[in-house]
Amino acid sequence: MTDEPLLKISGLETRFFTEEGQVNAVESVDLEIADGEVFGIVGESGSGKSVTALSLLGMVESPGRVTAGEIWYRNADLAAGIAGDVPDAVDGDYVNLQKLPDRVRRTLRGTHFSMVFQDPMSSFNPSLTVGEQIAEAVEAQQRARANPRSVASRTQGYGLGKYLMSFVSSSRKYVTQESRERAVELLEMVGIPDPVLRAEEHPHEYSGGMLQRAMVAQALAGEPDVLIADEPTTALDVTIQAQVLDLLSRIQSETGMTILLITHNLGVVARMCDRVGVMYAGEVVERGTLADVFDSPVHPYTQGLLGSVPEIEGASGRLQPIAGNVPSLLDHEMPDRCYFAERCPKAMEACLTKPAELDVPDQPGHSAACYLATEPFDEATALPADYFDDPGTAARATGVSEDGVPAGDGGELND
Ligand SMILES: Nc1ncnc2c1ncn2[C@@H]1O[C@H](COP(=O)(O)OP(=O)(O)OP(=O)(O)O)[C@@H](O)[C@H]1O
Ligand code: SF4
Ligand SMILES: [Mg+2]
Repeated sequence: MTDEPLLKISGLETRFFTEEGQVNAVESVDLEIADGEVFGIVGESGSGKSVTALSLLGMVESPGRVTAGEIWYRNADLAAGIAGDVPDAVDGDYVNLQKLPDRVRRTLRGTHFSMVFQDPMSSFNPSLTVGEQIAEAVEAQQRARANPRSVASRTQGYGLGKYLMSFVSSSRKYVTQESRERAVELLEMVGIPDPVLRAEEHPHEYSGGMLQRAMVAQALAGEPDVLIADEPTTALDVTIQAQVLDLLSRIQSETGMTILLITHNLGVVARMCDRVGVMYAGEVVERGTLADVFDSPVHPYTQGLLGSVPEIEGASGRLQPIAGNVPSLLDHEMPDRCYFAERCPKAMEACLTKPAELDVPDQPGHSAACYLATEPFDEATALPADYFDDPGTAARATGVSEDGVPAGDGGELND
């Protein structure tokens, strides 16, 4: 056992090159995630949570691209296996995923890293039975481990199947009996009643909650080290949501799997996570243990999110909107100041220079990209309340043009 992080992400930047200009969706994200922990990522819509997850998996699609950063994954066997071929990608027990050839990186999806999506219906191929699709995932992983070759899967356009496209021959029409039996076991493990019968049904015959469980089963087929769950329960009603979360908790404690949990729901974070990172405008603006971030948040954005939730433990503890717009992520409209300044009730003169991430004293691992992490609010240097009301200043600060056309996406929180 080692205390070294399982994942070390540094300086991760992901851009979309659109007709309107360069969109800085992920901006200098640094994260360290420990083996077996549940790390939560929260933030408004459009803050870069999903793109961060896709960047980790090497799944950002055109016109997007990871433009900078390193993603180090600790896996001694993998490191030893590729050190001869790609020495640049290896440092001790760590492998830099960014430097792996695509062929090798694809073999890690599903086997070492897996993903659960928000919408189970679009994650399964409607024309195949659920059992077949989970069995395909089982086979994909077995083949990936044995032989990292590129061929297609029949689930490749759907959810996890997208990530497994490399490993199952497109000419194969049937999966083996052994894989089917494993699929039934997995369905049983995630609490699907009558799994033998249910395995023969198609996705439309499942309820939303059952299909979500089936998606978890599919994601677990390759016994991944890291499960990325992007809004895994958003589409479910409260009771089913609780069941799926309990399922994830149980599997996590049984397998010691690491979970990166992306959610709008602070109740879910409070219930599941060991540590949490708060994202705003493509950056992690505050991070720390659940207790540090929830009980003593220092970034006014985090305070705003938490302050607006009356009962965090409650199942309805969803993030609420904070006054103002999320800033435009278009590169030429992003200001040099703190990105939150125009919405911040405590903006000071210092905040017109972009703050670095600062460690909160006496709270190891707790940090925030805000001057208030280390200094008290200085009323004497506070910016006037109408500072950003000047049309020119406001346009630069919010990405809203002077004729009032919003450049951002409105910052919905409760979608
Ligand atoms: N295909 C794309 N083309 C252009 N820009 C994109 C694309 N996908 C994402 N973006 C940009 O990246 C930003 C971050 O998107 P992302 O999907 O990561 O947000 P999110 O935090 O997951 O939001 P939500 O909570 O709504 O899922 C978006 O605001 C958008 O500007
Ligand atoms: S750096 Fe300044 S403007 Fe930004 S969140 Fe902190 S106090 Fe507010
Ligand atoms: Mg998202």
